[in-house]
Amino acid sequence: MPELQATAEARTAPRTDVAMQPEGSPPGAVPASLPTAAPQPAGTPIAISARDVSAWYGPKLAVSGISMEIAANAVTALIGPSGCGKSTYIRCFNRMHEFAPNARVGGEILLEGANIYAPRVDPARVRQRIGMVFQKPNPFPTMSIAENVAAGLRFQGIRSRSEITDRVERALKLAALWDEVKDDLKKPGMALSGGQQQRLCIARTIAVEPEVVLMDEPCSALDPVATLKVEDLMRELAERYTIVIVTHNMQQAARVSDYTAFLLMGDDGAGHLVEYSATQDLFTHPQDKRTEDYITGRFG
Ligand SMILES: Nc1ncnc2c1ncn2[C@@H]1O[C@H](COP(=O)(O)OP(=O)(O)OP(=O)(O)O)[C@@H](O)[C@H]1O
Ligand SMILES: [Mg+2]
Repeated sequence: MPELQATAEARTAPRTDVAMQPEGSPPGAVPASLPTAAPQPAGTPIAISARDVSAWYGPKLAVSGISMEIAANAVTALIGPSGCGKSTYIRCFNRMHEFAPNARVGGEILLEGANIYAPRVDPARVRQRIGMVFQKPNPFPTMSIAENVAAGLRFQGIRSRSEITDRVERALKLAALWDEVKDDLKKPGMALSGGQQQRLCIARTIAVEPEVVLMDEPCSALDPVATLKVEDLMRELAERYTIVIVTHNMQQAARVSDYTAFLLMGDDGAGHLVEYSATQDLFTHPQDKRTEDYITGRFG
């Protein structure tokens, strides 16, 4: 897959030093002890540490004991065949999994070192700090473009009109949508094209200034031009935010991500982490035969 490799190399070229973290490393750096943690360049700041995370729907185990360190201010991609638990796993990262009936999460997820599943943690606050963008753009249907972006700010209790106006403008600029909508802020969000709606949803997510943005197949409902715009946006956003993206599109993972994790359903019917490394390494020198088979299109 030469095109894919070339893109992966270009994207991740500066990040080829993938030694594990030595003893006595600074706080927040990758601990060497986790069996399935990705190798990271020494000292890379970590935004999220997932430790032995499992997820159930009632009695059904959907994700089995996945540990990963997610690098801050980088794009981390999750890939793997349909049904291997990518969406379930990513929804554990901001406590959305628990919206499913009888859902349960095991293990720990640390955001800046603190477990988001600890008692007394407010899940709504977690979802402000770790926002999510979904597969299908979902602007609030009765709201204007500006109101969509302001919704989370109002939920946070911000009342100052000038502050809301400023933050709406800033979020729309960051989401690379401002120039297209600045004269139409009162129009319904639903009146935008699909690609614009998805950037509106990204603006809505970043307006509350999260630390992490989770994106579950954010481009799968978009045409190629809109997809490239959202991919460019992801790279820009990674300068300020930590991005975790689920994608079925391996070219996309290679284009936009710094790190890639490959998940696969095990014999127990649940998703396992097979391989996790710098994107360039995973696509050019996969360590596991199953990863190689998947990225070369032999299954999935
Ligand atoms: N709400 C739910 N209730 C019960 N089981 C569920 C629910 N959502 C997902 N599952 C099951 O959990 C497993 C993992 O599903 P998940 O949606 O996480 O996979 P995925 O890797 O995101 O798949 P896709 O690539 O098709 O989106 C599947 O067996 C699925 O049927
Ligand atoms: Mg999914």
